[in-house]
Amino acid sequence: MSRTQDYTAATLDGFIAGPDNSLEWLFTRNRDEGGPLNYEEFIAEVGAVAMGATTYEWILDYQSSHGDAKWPYDVPSWVFTHRDLPVLPDGQIQLVSGDVAPVHAEMVRAAGGKNVWIVGGGDLAGQFAEAGLLDEVLVTIAPVTLGAGARLLSRYVELSLEEVARNGDFVAARFSVVRG
Ligand SMILES: NC(=O)c1ccc[n+]([C@@H]2O[C@H](COP(=O)([O-])OP(=O)(O)OC[C@H]3O[C@@H](n4cnc5c(N)ncnc54)[C@H](OP(=O)(O)O)[C@@H]3O)[C@@H](O)[C@H]2O)c1
Repeated sequence: MSRTQDYTAATLDGFIAGPDNSLEWLFTRNRDEGGPLNYEEFIAEVGAVAMGATTYEWILDYQSSHGDAKWPYDVPSWVFTHRDLPVLPDGQIQLVSGDVAPVHAEMVRAAGGKNVWIVGGGDLAGQFAEAGLLDEVLVTIAPVTLGAGARLLSRYVELSLEEVARNGDFVAARFSVVRG
């Protein structure tokens, strides 16, 4: 059955990016690419992705600064924004705004039984959680605190720990969302 998942890396104090959107704290850590919660196994089960405008712009900047202006996902992708952002021609990207519920219904249909990934940021993931549409939070926690930045989840969400393991420098944890 399709699950809607928030899959991110975060600092111990719950930030997914520094105040300047930096991910330096993440890229400087060791990770076992075949270990618990690894990206390859996760993405193989994903059939649709959604993200906010800041995350989208970060990906566009990152791809172009690495000489690869290509959309990194080969599944239908939704970007929440109030702006008319540039869209890469090779990606199946839709710009949307407002209520997450109708978009989620479309994503589940497009995913065809695979999972739906809410890439971030924390407010958008919170909108899905508040609408009762988030099933799981999968997080690899880096051994560092930043004190400020972009939040992992910026709403109250009750979670239940389902799995925990070590992956290189990270704690890899899977939580289910407790509803009601
Ligand atoms: N560590 C990780 O694994 C990880 C994962 C994902 C992201 N990140 C990073 O974390 C940071 C996240 O940034 P962020 O928290 O600021 O959030 P974000 O969710 O990427 O972007 C927030 C923006 O999305 C738009 N938005 C959100 N909800 C909307 C809605 N319902 N309708 C229309 N537009 C909506 C608004 O943009 P406009 O009003 O401007 O259009 C809003 O300002 C980025 O730096 C990203 O690269 C890290």
